[in-house]
Amino acid sequence: MKVAYLLQVLSAAACLCAAEDSGPGWQWSWACKSGRCVKSEYPISYASSRGISNITRKSQSACRLTCGQYGALWPHPTGPTTIGEQVVAFHPSIIRFDLLEVVDSGRGTREYLAACTQLFLDNLLVECGANCSVVSDTDVYVRLVTRSQDLTLNWNTDETYTLDIVTSSRVNSVTVNIRAETVYGARHGLETLSQLVARVPAPLGGGGRGHSSPRKHLLIMATNVRLSDAPIFRHRGLMLDTARNFLPLYAMKRTLDAMAASKLNVLHWHATDSQSFPLESPRVPQLARRRFGAYSSRQVYTPQDVAYLLEYARLRGVRIIMELDAPSHAGNGWQWGEAAGLGQLAVCVNQQPWRKYCIQPPCGQLNPTNPNLYRVLRDLYRDILDIFPRGEPLHMGGDEVYFPCWNSSAEIVNWMEARGQGRGQADFLQLWADYQSTALGTLDEEVGHSNTPIILWSSHLTEPGVIESFLNKDRYIIQTWVPASSSLPVELLAKGYRVIYSTKDTWYLDHGFWGSTVYHNWRVVYDNRIPRKAGVLGGEACMWSELVDNQSLDAKVWPRTAAMAERLWADPETRSSSAEARFYRHRQRLVTRGIRADAVSPAYCYQNEGECQ
Ligand SMILES: *[C@@H]1O[C@H](CO)[C@@H](O)[C@H](O)[C@H]1NC(C)=O
Ligand SMILES: *[C@@H]1O[C@H](CO)[C@@H](O)[C@H](O)[C@H]1NC(C)=O
Ligand SMILES: *[C@@H]1O[C@H](CO)[C@@H](O)[C@H](O)[C@H]1NC(C)=O
Ligand SMILES: *[C@@H]1O[C@H](CO)[C@@H](O)[C@H](O)[C@H]1NC(C)=O
Repeated sequence: MKVAYLLQVLSAAACLCAAEDSGPGWQWSWACKSGRCVKSEYPISYASSRGISNITRKSQSACRLTCGQYGALWPHPTGPTTIGEQVVAFHPSIIRFDLLEVVDSGRGTREYLAACTQLFLDNLLVECGANCSVVSDTDVYVRLVTRSQDLTLNWNTDETYTLDIVTSSRVNSVTVNIRAETVYGARHGLETLSQLVARVPAPLGGGGRGHSSPRKHLLIMATNVRLSDAPIFRHRGLMLDTARNFLPLYAMKRTLDAMAASKLNVLHWHATDSQSFPLESPRVPQLARRRFGAYSSRQVYTPQDVAYLLEYARLRGVRIIMELDAPSHAGNGWQWGEAAGLGQLAVCVNQQPWRKYCIQPPCGQLNPTNPNLYRVLRDLYRDILDIFPRGEPLHMGGDEVYFPCWNSSAEIVNWMEARGQGRGQADFLQLWADYQSTALGTLDEEVGHSNTPIILWSSHLTEPGVIESFLNKDRYIIQTWVPASSSLPVELLAKGYRVIYSTKDTWYLDHGFWGSTVYHNWRVVYDNRIPRKAGVLGGEACMWSELVDNQSLDAKVWPRTAAMAERLWADPETRSSSAEARFYRHRQRLVTRGIRADAVSPAYCYQNEGECQ
């Protein structure tokens, strides 16, 4: 009984005779030819196939699994990779895990790996679906070895791993070895392993074990595999905006699942903006709930929500960087100062006609001249520090400060005048810089040191001509959102700043839906290369949420962000056309895992690899 399930993928020259009857169903078959899965001229029928049949081994997913240098892997590994043609059928319930660590087992490490293996099994069960055939003739051992007990996830985390799959001399036993420095590398290894598995139609009866329905499926795993892998860029991010439209926790969890599937490692959470302040602060409850900074009492993130999401992300190899955008993009949530005897914490809030006071309605800008503002910020920072690991970067926003707003406030103008300042551009720039350094000083006092990395959007303040007089290059990382043609990132790098690229004309996912902006399809996203230079931390796709909520989030973010994920993980010399078959497969994978990823081609092009280029 233990013999039947070692499948040899047949050689390419396959004669497939026309199906004789329509039977209960039929399907096309595929054969791998020069790295491409080529569809047969005629379909084969379920009725005419028995045992471990052509239906199983010639299905498209079986072909794609082992065809070409990288099979179905996304993003592709960066080290030497071989994927042999041999596959075995197995069921997730028979996988045995060995969680080995070279150093004495750290409890945290073990727990992390145990959680990862569960997520891995869940993904396999989802892949196999409701009618998963319980074929258990092959024993699968997965051995996970990590060397470090360090559970820190940051820009220095070693994400490398090696993976090999060998069929041992024991009949029908397969051993998977995943070796990594850290648990995060091991997690990536398990993700890769899940992509070395495919769902295929189970054969009709005759193969034993009662698979009698053609609607059943089984899982196969590639077996002669050897690869090593490490990312090119260490910051591979997605920005979600939860202020223009609120995103429920489950939408963010879904997004994190898709990020994990694509080996992205940073969720940049643009939590607040002038439209709403959904982040609940125990020390300053007025911001979200009590004075209506949130859209409703339910559309808030409690500290428990944030902590939960942080852990949810960590188990998927993703860290969360919180952004509190300031001093601009702050309005609703900040109106209560005067009533509370703290003076105006923000000015121009919701002021009309908005075009006079801001770039996008509703208006609002923090009031840097009010000392009470910094008391409130201090409390807010303390709330953040209660939840986030110490040393985690904070994104302090800093985009689109609009001077006419400050200039319209008698309080601010008088304050500047009293210090002998004028009302020119340079004076307001100085005011902004003073705000930034006072806010940072406040944060540093709460943290207890001055080493927290700070991220800011590129802005007037980060112009190469002035940045050095305002922002210390050892402290500040600049997230540039200029077009690919702009020299700004390179100029900042030359001055010694670290840079995160959010190339506006490729990685801004909101484009194409408003004004004269243009939609960037996955090829444009994929083909955007950023320099491999010291100081380039990586990149981020940005999902500004004016026109997105839970209903359309997945389709706008996925699978395009996965295209960026391979660019940042592997940075291939080749362009999107070489990645097409694997990308289409990955889109399918995301859909299988519950992500409503958008369609990226007619099914014809998915079935006929390379024919639509
Ligand atoms: C499977 O395909 C092979 C080669 O293409 C063919 O010789 C064989 O008859 C097929 N088997 C079945 C059961 O259809
Ligand atoms: C599972 O199989 C049953 C019986 O063949 C069928 O009615 C059902 O639709 C199948 N479910 C799925 C999810 O394929
Ligand atoms: C501020 O307002 C004054 C008076 O209207 C004007 O002269 C000045 O140019 C304004 N400054 C800026 C930076 O807009
Ligand atoms: C949120 O989006 C998901 C996926 O598109 C959908 O299944 C779910 O029903 C949506 N929830 C609400 C409350 O609309």
